[in-house]
Amino acid sequence: MSEREDKTQVCIVGAGPAGLLLGHLLRAEGIDCVVLERQSPDYVLGRIRAGVLEQVTVGLMERLGLDSRLKAEGLIHDGFNLADGERLIRIDIADLTGRHVVVYGQTELTRDLMDASAERGLTVVYEANDVALHDVESDAPFVTYEKDGQAHRVSARIVVGCDGFHGPSRRVIPAGVAREYEREYPFGWLGILADVPPCNHELIYANHERGFALASQRSEVRSRYYIDVPLTEKLEDWPDDRVWDELAIRLGPEAAANITRGPSIEKSIAPLRSYVFAPMRHGNLLLCGDAAHIVPPTGAKGLNLAASDVHYAAEALTAFFRRNDADAVAGYSDRALARVWKAERFSWSLTRLMHRFPEDGPFERAMQVAELDYIASSRAAQTSIAENYVGLPV
Ligand code: APR
Ligand code: PHB
Repeated sequence: MSEREDKTQVCIVGAGPAGLLLGHLLRAEGIDCVVLERQSPDYVLGRIRAGVLEQVTVGLMERLGLDSRLKAEGLIHDGFNLADGERLIRIDIADLTGRHVVVYGQTELTRDLMDASAERGLTVVYEANDVALHDVESDAPFVTYEKDGQAHRVSARIVVGCDGFHGPSRRVIPAGVAREYEREYPFGWLGILADVPPCNHELIYANHERGFALASQRSEVRSRYYIDVPLTEKLEDWPDDRVWDELAIRLGPEAAANITRGPSIEKSIAPLRSYVFAPMRHGNLLLCGDAAHIVPPTGAKGLNLAASDVHYAAEALTAFFRRNDADAVAGYSDRALARVWKAERFSWSLTRLMHRFPEDGPFERAMQVAELDYIASSRAAQTSIAENYVGLPV
């Protein structure tokens, strides 16, 4: 079978939010790129992910001029809540930081980027099979794939792995030159999406003796809720009513009184993990987003970290293709990781504070209560949480 060859400046593997955002930013700078995605557009849009955007993410959509739906439909949130039994601690992020977050589903953001690809001259090849990266240590890396029975080769100057935690990019980096940092958590989040109004106008993260719960939302008529469950739990054992009953207990009486129940339109269990792969560059391969790191969803940092990686990568690649600035590419990993580690710390500490770990005893619980008391009574503590929640500067 003969191979069809394409040449480009940047080959991006993966068309999740990281790959699409990067592709658009590079096109806006006049840099040629091709995005290769294993799945179909519908499959990519079928994945339900978090929905709280930091300014860095909103800012990139604004810069691209792709923020009209985000502006019209995104919900501005000036605060969120930590619940502990009957107590509700409100973190007033607007007052504490002068900023806010925007509630807008990752699915919608991905759709906006996808819909604009053709008009912006961004080539995205969907259903690309057997994507494989080659010679990333050289100045002539290339990526091969198969589509509709035809073999393809994309020759590039730089390859960017935006292919999520399970993608092939990270795996071509030899074990000896990188390090993995990992923490698995002894529970997963069972999520339920339903077309019912949210129980509260702001998010509530709850630590209850029966476990964690989160009341979130996608719009004024669509709610997203989570509870933590042991990893051994099966979805079949969680009919909708059982999930609603559990949410009503864990979120506390005030929220429970306002919960509107309805049939789930999506229900899934996702494991929680903290993971960092460093460095995030090897030769002419850069990694962005979940390909290089995972955070537990407590704090909704996953998508926003992908966006800040992409911001640094686009800057580095623009400097490289405009001014032949190889140092900018070499410096990408350190710049990105400095922000990644702070988001890892925040996500880990909020997870630690709000979940009942099976191995915890009375001492660990007393530490949680003391920390929540401190947060409730100290503006300094609230400011620290708020500035991490709205997103640290890029
Ligand atoms: N070939 C081509 N594409 C691939 C391959 C492969 N072998 N393996 C994975 N991909 C694609 C996936 O199908 C997916 O569309 O890479 C994309 C990765 O997208 P995401 O997993 O969404 O990761 P990322 O773009 O880094 O987005 C950051 O933020 O909220 C978090 O984890 C959440 O998706 C989220 C992330
Ligand atoms: C969500 O809406 O899916 C969501 C919100 C906040 C989180 C995690 C997930 O911390």
